[in-house]
Amino acid sequence: MTTLLVLHGPNLNLLGTREPEIYGDLTLAEIDQKLAEAASAKDVEIYSIQSNSEGALVDALQEAAKKADGVIFNPAGYTHTSVALRDAVAAIGIPVIEVHLSNVYAREEFRKQSLIAPVCLGKITGFGWMSYRLALEALIERG
Ligand code: DQA
Repeated sequence: MTTLLVLHGPNLNLLGTREPEIYGDLTLAEIDQKLAEAASAKDVEIYSIQSNSEGALVDALQEAAKKADGVIFNPAGYTHTSVALRDAVAAIGIPVIEVHLSNVYAREEFRKQSLIAPVCLGKITGFGWMSYRLALEALIERG
């Protein structure tokens, strides 16, 4: 069976109340639940991790190399700053798709730079929780 990690970065634990005009009304638990349902319909197993800590996200990526076939990753604020997360994505040898709820290209200049995207399979941004769903479909369809 295919196993995928859904990895959420800092402040995404606040979804539901965090700037809902930008990030929507769904909580992280609700997003994870929707993804779990979409995945199980395709016979795919997912497990979700959220952390506000860069090191814990690195650990989750390294662990995923041993037990997952791909990663759906919203690095949140670390997208724009983290060499350590970029290096982890480059090191693990399984496909990673970078996702964002908001359209990072329609926001502040600093959000247009991603250190992570160049080492990912691809990037999906701006579709709310559907960004994760589209990434799930891409990883499944790609095989
Ligand atoms: C985000 C976009 C990032 O720029 C921001 O720092 C976040 C959320 C998104 O999902 O739209 O925390 O990754």
